[in-house]
Formats: sequence, structure tokens, C-alpha cells
Amino acid sequence: MCGIIGCISRENCYEKLLSSLARLEYRGYDSAGVCLLSDSGTLRVRKKKGYVSNLAGKPIPGGAGIGHTRWATHGKPSDENAHPHLCGKFALVHNGIIENYAALKEELLVQGDVFLSETDSEVIVHLLSHAYRGDFLGALREVCARLCGSYALAVLCADYPGQIAAARRGSPLVAGAAKGALYVCSDVPALCGEAEFLCPVEDGEFVLLSDAVRVFDGQGRQIERSFTRVKSEQRAASVAEGTFMQAEIAQVPRALRDTLEGLEGTDFAPCARALRGAKRIWCAACGTAYHAALSFADVLAEKGVCDVFCTTSSEFRYKTPLIGAEDVFVAVSQSGETADTLEAARLAKSRGAFLIGITNVADSSLSRLVHFNIAMRAGPEIAVAATKSYNAQLLCLFYLAAQLVFFKKGSFPLWKGELRLLPERAEECFGTFGQMSALAAKLISAKGMFFLGRNADFPTALEGALKVREIACLFAEGYPAGELKHGSLALVEEGFPVFALSTREALFAKTENALAEVRARGAYTILLSQSEQALSQSCAHCKVLLPKICAPLYPVLSVLPLQYFACRLSLLRGMDPDKPRNLAKSVTVE
Ligand code: AGP
Repeated sequence: MCGIIGCISRENCYEKLLSSLARLEYRGYDSAGVCLLSDSGTLRVRKKKGYVSNLAGKPIPGGAGIGHTRWATHGKPSDENAHPHLCGKFALVHNGIIENYAALKEELLVQGDVFLSETDSEVIVHLLSHAYRGDFLGALREVCARLCGSYALAVLCADYPGQIAAARRGSPLVAGAAKGALYVCSDVPALCGEAEFLCPVEDGEFVLLSDAVRVFDGQGRQIERSFTRVKSEQRAASVAEGTFMQAEIAQVPRALRDTLEGLEGTDFAPCARALRGAKRIWCAACGTAYHAALSFADVLAEKGVCDVFCTTSSEFRYKTPLIGAEDVFVAVSQSGETADTLEAARLAKSRGAFLIGITNVADSSLSRLVHFNIAMRAGPEIAVAATKSYNAQLLCLFYLAAQLVFFKKGSFPLWKGELRLLPERAEECFGTFGQMSALAAKLISAKGMFFLGRNADFPTALEGALKVREIACLFAEGYPAGELKHGSLALVEEGFPVFALSTREALFAKTENALAEVRARGAYTILLSQSEQALSQSCAHCKVLLPKICAPLYPVLSVLPLQYFACRLSLLRGMDPDKPRNLAKSVTVE
């Protein structure tokens, strides 16, 4: 998704902007640009389709600058559509979507304005130019009041050298300070390499960077806001060799250890009343986080403590759910900035539900919105494809499920004691990677593949398929093992790869039946199970032995070989698994 940066620095402002943009790259983008404002009030822009590295060249002078990585929504990726956009004395970068831009543009065209891009963002800078009567922040406030949709904005005004004004509604924004430099940025991880101190900016607030960071409300009243020191775990990661995704898969055991340590140190008392009295549990998330939520619903359904409803955030928002004050709403999001999940949580909050968040980014919008936040502590995840954060999300959700069972029934489920075995067992899963690598090489030319799983294995099948689609750009689908013959079996032909996950003893035979059916139609079959017996009795062409753990916890482990497989497949197919086509790490628009 688009990322914005604003920087005030007497020294090396251009270089600082470029290095901040490089830290925003992981969010996914297709063009980039910067604009610097000199002390004499000259705005100079450099913007290009493609990578941030395309902006390198003779440093642009100026002590205040703004920058942008664009993920196209309105208008194709091109030099013209790249930000910053300029009009009169103003330059602007924008993350978000302006929903009423067409009407605003119409109005500006009537007044004779000429637009140079197809973007929704360009209307904002034109409106600023019209609204400006000498008061920089006042003009920004006036314009923001006319915008519908979401935005994080950073703006330069030629009359105000050494200053940047910023605003936020519905898109993430954080301010930061370092020795000799002040920042606003879309993203905490991207800012942490630059800033030593952080200060959150809330929806509806405005920021003015000059000799200090000043935060204002919508009426122009200054708000006291304190800074917190950047914690070491907030600092963005780097890899010496290989890809971030490979490194992040290798970090799963450590992430699980850190997550568990954090969970054991977390006081759940503040949510005891809500959990004990919960009539229903709702869980909403997107993509990979949604698959983790499905496993949470499975593990809770098994304990039969109360009704659990799990849905994607984008569906929850528009389904008029019967959620109320006796309910608990759990929002799961690695970034804590996913627009649909934030809106779903706001909706649940407006209905009086108790909100629990599970996030990996401290000080994210979600962590500040919820009544009780559970920090994942998986460490920064830079690759667009979620890996270690998924394992950590599952651990957090299972831990939360155990707390809920305890508050409702007075005792913890038996499997809670085995959570501490997960980091070691995850390491043991690495033993499957040789086989998965060979499989990736064998399946390099496959046209697509299926992933099957029953019950608790089904969300893992969905996640395996999502990983392959996302980073190997191959058609892949996850199905409940019993569902294939209701239509999708028609796609199975000679050599078509079908993975099956089978970790539930009571269902070994059922999953085996599904494998036999696809094998009889020519499929190349791969079975993953912890049971030597299930594997030895299987008709599968390739058999992968998983380490042993008690049944409900398998989702945390059985996904690891699939994550690794997808990564190898992506690399062998000549792709960059860290930056998949068309995708962004943090989806901050609806
Ligand atoms: C997973 O590999 C994806 N990149 C994506 O599905 C992601 O999980 C989803 O966009 C949700 O992100 P969040 O956890 O930051 O809310």
C-alpha cells in the first residue's frame, strides 16, 4: 500500500527521505517520489514509476521534504500518477482513497484547474491552493473537512520553508523525532530505523513539524502528546543474505518463544469479566490472519464454551452482525493497520462489544483502538507474505482460547501445557524442508494445485494455498477434504498436485479416501501427517512426517512445510517472494 514520509532536517534531508522510502518498500508499491522545499521557498520534485532506487541522483537541496511510495488505485503506475502532486505553492503526498474525488474534481475543472494525473490525490492539492489565504494549517483543516474517504497526508507550502503539515483520517500516521530530524510517516517499522522517539497521531488530528512536533485537533487547538522511546523490537529487520521470507520462516521458533514469554507475562485480569460473561465470541481478520482466526474458532468450538463466529473483516462490516454488549470481538492483524479489520473493530465497539486485539506492531491503530491488546512479539515481518506472524497469531489465539475456557469453566484445557513445546517442535519441522525443496523443484511447472484438510486441518490448507497463490503466482485452492467431489474434482488431471493435511486420528481414513479419489484420477499426491501409520498406509506419492504435539496445536506446526514449499517454489520460478506482484504488506484501504 502507499506509504508517506515527511522529514525536516538541516542536514541530508534528501538522503533521509530516500532511506525512509526504502524502509517503506516492503509495504508494496509501484512508483515513488520526493519533493524538497528549499529555504528560499522553491519546491523541487523527482518522481518515477518503479523502484525507489530510480530516484537516486544528485541530491535535491532543502531542509524539509516529503516522499511517497505509491500502490496504484486511481490511475495506472506512471511517472505522472506518482506522488508528490503539486499545485501553486503546495506539494502533497497521500495514502488512502478520496471517495468524493470525482465530484470535487468536477468542481475544480469548472473553475479552470488543469490536472496532470489520473489520481484522486491530486484534487487535494488543488483544493489547498484554492483554500489558502496565508494560513498553512488552517487551509489544510478546511480542505480535510471536505474530503470523504481515508487519508494520511503530508504537505509542503512554499511560504513555509522548514515546515511540514500532516493530517490523518482512517490511514495510519505516526510522528517521530531523532537528533536533528523530525518525521511523519505511515508506518512505525519504517520510521524506527530513522527516529529515536515516536508519537502516535490519532484520526482527525493534524501535525505541524517545524522546530518541534506539534499536534492539533480539528478545531486547531494544540494537544499535549508525549513521545515514547523506540523499543528494540520495533526496529525494522534486515537480512544479510537470501530473502526476508526465508529469514522469517527460520525465525519461527524464536518468534514462538518470544510470543509465549510475552503471553506468560500478560495479565489477563482486565478482560476476565468480559470473557467470563461473553455470550458470543466474534473474530474478524483478513487473509492469513483470517485463517488463524478460523483455527481459533475450531479450538473453541471443540471446548463448547460459547458460540463463536469467525468472518473476514470485509464481510463482517457489511453483514449487519447481531453483535452486542455481552459479546467479545477479537480482531487479529499483524500490522494492526488493515483498513477492513479496523472498521470491523470500530463497528463492534460502537455496538458495545468488548474488543480484544492481537497485533504484531506496537502502537498500531488497532492496538490503540481495542480495550485489551495482546502483543504478538513475533518481531518485524518485512516480507509481504505472512509467515512467522501466522504461527505467532495462532499461539496468541490458542492462549486466549485457554484463558476463555479457564474463565468460563474454572480450569485450563489440557493442551495449554503443551504450548511451551511449540518452539522446539517448530525447529523439528525444519527437518521436512529438504523434502519440500525437492517437491518445489518437481512441481515447478505445475499449472495449479489443491490443498486439502478436514476440520482443524482446513485453515492450514487454506493458508498453504494462499501462500502459493501469493508468492509463486500459481492457481492454488484449499478445500475441506470431503468437498472436492462436489465440483472441483473436475480440475484434477494427470500430474495435478494435491497436498493433504491429516493430523486428526479420527479422520485419517476419511482424508485418505479423498487422496485415493484424486490419485485414481491421475493426481500427484502429497500427505503430511504426524502418524507413521497413516503415512505408511497411505496411497500418497510423497509422505511428509510432522513432529508430534497434542492434536489441537497442529495448525501452528503443519503450516511450516507449506510456507517453506511456497517460498522455494517462488524462488525456483524466478520470483521475489518478498515483493509479490500487485500485493502490499499493509492494506490500508478498503
Ligand atoms: C498474507 O501472506 C498476506 N500478505 C495477507 O493476507 C495478510 O495476512 C492480510 O492482508 C492481513 O494483514 P494484517 O494481518 O496486517 O491485518
